[in-house]
Amino acid sequence: MRSFIAGLPKCELHLHIEGTLEPELKLALAERNGVPLPHSTVEEVRAAYEFDSLASFLVGYYDGMRVLLTEPDFYDLATAYLRRASAQNVRYAEIFFDPQAHTSRGVPFDVVIRGLRRALLDAERTWGVRAQLIMCFLRDFQAEYAMATLLESLPYREWIVGVGLDSDERGNPPEKFAEVFARARREGYLLTMHCDVDQENSTEHIRQCLEVIGVDRIDHGVNALEDPALVAEIARRGLGLTVCPISNGYVTGDRKTDAIRRMLDLGLRVTINSDDPSYFQAYVGENLEAVHEALGLTAAELVRLEHNAFEVAWLPRTIRDALL
Ligand code: ADE
Ligand code: ZN
Repeated sequence: MRSFIAGLPKCELHLHIEGTLEPELKLALAERNGVPLPHSTVEEVRAAYEFDSLASFLVGYYDGMRVLLTEPDFYDLATAYLRRASAQNVRYAEIFFDPQAHTSRGVPFDVVIRGLRRALLDAERTWGVRAQLIMCFLRDFQAEYAMATLLESLPYREWIVGVGLDSDERGNPPEKFAEVFARARREGYLLTMHCDVDQENSTEHIRQCLEVIGVDRIDHGVNALEDPALVAEIARRGLGLTVCPISNGYVTGDRKTDAIRRMLDLGLRVTINSDDPSYFQAYVGENLEAVHEALGLTAAELVRLEHNAFEVAWLPRTIRDALL
């Protein structure tokens, strides 16, 4: 089944580009930009990763970004990811980026997006892998900063397919960003939000995504299974759930594969994704293997997972059909 998984055409829908920063590239960019790091080897960088919760993961995730300063840095970051994705037969990826994690450090928005955009165009020409960008707002910052970021993105509207919400969920419910997401919708962006696994108020946050925000997709969303009304509504709307099992294992101690089994059995559009593959040392292929190992999925079920992802991808039907 390993080679079956390797050969399966894949669609990645939950991937933070800043979470793909491998230690080798981090060290190289630190050297290029003259950014002092406390580590000088790949092993030392990896040994410093220690997370057992979303909050402890986010500390290392934001710290790692200090080496990303110029347009070529963002180009190199996204190119490295797309090269690896293409080697795993990823045909299409929707890539999150966190502009506020950079503008808050003095790196201009246009530097970030131009580097990413150039990488996407070159990767499609070089490896045939397609990708689109989803701009995430950091939920632990003020809604006003998210709105300012949304307005700053408008000149690049054609380069961004949708908006998301990530970072520390504690005390930062979806409704805090209702106005920002309503404006994003009016500007033509599609909408998604993280409802991370086993957070305080997870089911209430999923309810707000459905009833207050009107999302087009939910990132993670595993806790919906605790409430039959949420499951029924997600099924009725045909919403995709972008689940990240190895990431879940790091931040909660449980890969939530039993939940994936239930979602499949319920006919929900569950998809398997990698989240922050450098930090969790697993790209989408390894995530599919982990689910297969835990659940003994059939080939048809593995195909179903990827089919779900292509179905809920934010692509015009003709392009999606050509990729399948
Ligand atoms: N930013 C990067 N990875 C994240 C995750 N898993 N949850 C919330 N915010 C994130
Ligand atoms: Zn995520």
